[in-house]
Parts: sequence; C-alpha cells; structure tokens
Amino acid sequence: MLVALFGAFLVGQSFAYNYLVYNPLFAHSHASFLGKLADTLTDAGHNVTMFAPVMNYRLAEKPVTKSTTDIITMEPDEYLNDFQHQMDNADFGLYWIHNTDVFSTQQMIDVFNMTFHRQCELLSENQQVLQRLKNKKYDVILFEPFNVCAFNLRRFLEIPTMIISTSLPLDEHTSRYIGEPIPASYVPGLWSHFGEVMNLKERMWNVFEQLFYRDATASLQPEIFRKLGVEPYDITEEFSKTSFVFVNSNPYIDFPRPTLHKTVGIGGITVNVTKIRQQTLEKNWHELLNAKTKTVLVSFGSVMFSKDMPIEYKLNLVRVMKSFPDVTFIWKYEDDDVSFAKDASNIVFTNWVPQSSLLADARLSAFVTHAGLASATELSYLGIPAITVPLFADQMRNARMLERHGNSISIDKLDLGHYETIKDALQRILYEEEFTKNAKLLAEQLATQPISPRELVIRHAEFAAKFGQIASLDPQGRKLSTFQYYLGDVALVILATVFLVSLLLLKFFRLLSSFLFRSRSSKRKTE
Ligand SMILES: *[C@@H]1O[C@H](CO)[C@@H](O)[C@H](O)[C@H]1NC(C)=O
Ligand SMILES: *[C@@H]1O[C@H](CO)[C@@H](O)[C@H](O)[C@H]1NC(C)=O
Repeated sequence: MLVALFGAFLVGQSFAYNYLVYNPLFAHSHASFLGKLADTLTDAGHNVTMFAPVMNYRLAEKPVTKSTTDIITMEPDEYLNDFQHQMDNADFGLYWIHNTDVFSTQQMIDVFNMTFHRQCELLSENQQVLQRLKNKKYDVILFEPFNVCAFNLRRFLEIPTMIISTSLPLDEHTSRYIGEPIPASYVPGLWSHFGEVMNLKERMWNVFEQLFYRDATASLQPEIFRKLGVEPYDITEEFSKTSFVFVNSNPYIDFPRPTLHKTVGIGGITVNVTKIRQQTLEKNWHELLNAKTKTVLVSFGSVMFSKDMPIEYKLNLVRVMKSFPDVTFIWKYEDDDVSFAKDASNIVFTNWVPQSSLLADARLSAFVTHAGLASATELSYLGIPAITVPLFADQMRNARMLERHGNSISIDKLDLGHYETIKDALQRILYEEEFTKNAKLLAEQLATQPISPRELVIRHAEFAAKFGQIASLDPQGRKLSTFQYYLGDVALVILATVFLVSLLLLKFFRLLSSFLFRSRSSKRKTE
C-alpha cells in the first residue's frame, strides 16, 4: 500500500509538463479566467509560464494568478494606451438606454480585434520577449480563440499541442472550425437575446447572427510572423488541430446541447465554494446583514457602472426600494454623490462589495445582477435567487440560461424606470419560496457534479500534453459541405425518387384508365 502510494507520488512528480498560458491583459473577466487555468495546472504540480502582454494598463496593477509565478509580460505601446484612455473616458451611459444587437456587438468586437492585431505586431517586434519565450520547450499552449496571434506564436515556438480555452460559452465560429454541431433551432447563439424556446422570427435571428457575425480570424495576418520564419498557413484549419476546447460553460447550468468529445465544459473552475465560505466578513457587513429580516445585493458589475444609468432609473429604483422597509439594499455604486436617494434609510451605497462572501451568507436573500458570466456562475454555485438585468454582450444569453432553472427573474434594462415591473419582480423573488428552493437545488447539483471542473482541466490538459494533437477526435463532419452536412444531397435524392415514382404511377394509372375506358366503350359498341 505504502509502496503504491509512493509510486503514485513519484509518477505524479516525474510527469510534470510545461504549459504556456497566453493571457493578454485586456479585460478582467478574461484575464482572471486564464489566470485560474494557469493556477489550476501549477497547483497540480506542472510548470506553467504565463505570457501576459499588457493591453489595459489598469490590469497590470494586480496579479491575475496566485500560485503561478513564471510570468512574462510585455508593455503596451502608445496606440494601446491611447485606446485604453478612450475606453476609460467612453460614455457607457448609452448601454443603459439602447439594446445591443449583432451589429453593435460586431462594431465593438472589430475594435477589439484591431487592438489584438496591434498586440500581435508588438510581439513580433519584441526580440527580448520572444527570446524569453523561446528559452523553454512547452508541451501545450492555452489561449482564447479570438487571440488569433497565438496561432502564430505556437508555430514560432514550435509547440506541438494547443488547447483553445474560452472564458465565454462556445462561440459559433470556433464551433464551425472544429466541427461542433450548431443547433440554431434551440440553442441560443453567444449574443442572443432569446432562450431555448424561440418562435420563427427569433430562430431566424439566431441563424442570421451566426451567419453575419465576423470573428477575429479575418483580422489575423499570418504575415506578421513571416519575417520570423513562420510560413503562411490556413487559420481555420489550425482551430481543428486543438486537442481540446475548454469552454466556460457548465453542463448543469447552460442550455443542453450536443457537443463533441473534444469540447470540455469547465464552467465553475473560477468558483471555489469552500474557500468562499471560509472568508470572513468585516464587522460592518455583519451589522448590515443583521439590520433587517432580508437583504438584497445590487451590483451591475465592473464594466458598466450604476452611476452611468439614467436618472429616471435611479429615482425609480430608490422609490421601489423604499417601498420595502423590511429589506436592506446594498447597492454597488461608483460615485459619492447619491443625492437622488435622500432619506432612503434602507439603501446602503458602497463603492466596493465583497460579492462572493455576501452571496455565500445565509442572511442574503437575493441578488440583482447584470448577469455577467462570472456572477451568473457564482450565484448558481452559492444558491442565491436573482433578478437579472443584462446590459450587453453575452449577458442576455446568461440571463435566459439562469431563468431556465427557475432561480431567477430576468428584466429588460429598459424597464428599470418602470415602477410596477421592478416592484413585482422584487416582491416575487423575496417572497415566493419557489425561487430560493430552485436556487438551492441548482447549487446542490453543482456541488455534487460527477467530475469537478478542476479535475476536468487537469486530466484533459495532461492527456493533451501526453498525446499531442488527437487526430481521432477530429470529426469528419467538419470537412463536409453545408449541403452534405445537413443531408441536402440525400434529401434531394429522396425527393427526386418520390417525384419520379409518383410520375410513373400517374402515367401507369392514366394508361390503365384509358385502356379500361376504351375496352368498356368498345364493349358497348359491340352490344
Ligand atoms: C520545471 O521547473 C523546474 C524548476 O524550474 C525544473 O527543475 C524542471 O526541470 C522543470 N520541469 C520540466 C518538465 O521542464
Ligand atoms: C478550495 O479552497 C480550499 C480552501 O482554501 C482548498 O483547500 C481547496 O483545495 C480548494 N479547491 C480547489 C478545487 O481549488
């Protein structure tokens, strides 16, 4: 027994692999997801290097990893810094009063793709960073699918294996390139406003979005790395060489759908419930949570700010909150001027909230959230009922995804100025038992899921390091034309056959009837 244990220990140690996690620091949710992947592999005993070029100088201030210490950074240039300044000063107030659609989302994505393109050029010119990266032989590179520069880097560093890892649910482009089925009739696309039940018009939109939305592959210029000796290659073909695709989607939370064996849903990797429950709240939070019979946390995340919402929304929310005198509302609000909420004694405005600790506290009754994926996953794991007010990007989809579990009520952001809608939603989420019950059920399922996200990551990453590109997982469906894939050719043959047989039968019966008619009339004549 002891020998076996010791043997296992030795085997575990001697099979440390080298992983490179390419983590451009451009947005918090993306950076912390990839940081968590790096830490998970480091904690499992592997050698992990994180390449973290700074795109957003704000993210350079705080480390995105805990246990991963081998970090190679790269400074942004003036172009990227200017872009970030513009982002910092942009008017996000518009997002509160306009609905986003595939076109506005596309515009935003095109701009980001341009910055990623610049980041790629910077890398190709930075001999020092390239040399540092070259110093180690990596077994596997992990990166997000829109960071298409990673395909260049992989070729340049001659890394045999990749695991595309997205901090979002699977996007339709990656799906198409790897041959993943896209059931647009009942699975909402990444930017969809709809749930799984769609009418004809909504299904048409769901298809339309997938047809017209452009991804980052169009913006990759393999020439950027040509001067470094990387020969041009077919980028869409590159996707299919990924050993696995790690997707930030948990099968017990997300819409059910058919997937490839290659696609591994690791949603929840960022949430450690044990650790969250161990965190202790400061005294002032305990006082707040004890103040009334119920407490509601209100936070719209760290990208769009509450302070930017129209004043009608703010006044209306205050009016609704005041109508619940037995409830304390903790509102994450980014400005000190809260004069719009005079004499609202049950509202506490605060710049910062210990979100996960509050969600883990039994005294918290409900969460009003923008339904960012990180928050949506966290509230699912911690079993808190929610009112979702999605603002942009994948948040509308996340809200519908949660709604399916009966743990939440989704509200259109344009209704934030509507007294009855908000009042009714709060009334129901606070006083109808069903929501809390369903939230707890989902949390229990997540706590008991057969294979934890952490195990999925480690086992698949090790398998990929050992076996490299796993050609046997590459489906033939990827290589078929759309016509063949949807059995258009087969349907055509069947239709043609039915048509021909019907035609022949028709001819036959015509002949038969004219024959019978003639023989009858000739019979009559002879009589
Ligand atoms: C991992 O890193 C350690 C320390 O840097 C080194 O001794 C070891 O050889 C590395 N392992 C591999 C597989 O490269
Ligand atoms: C979660 O956190 C606890 C306490 O910090 C730790 O012991 C445990 O290993 C962590 N689990 C995972 C899956 O990281």
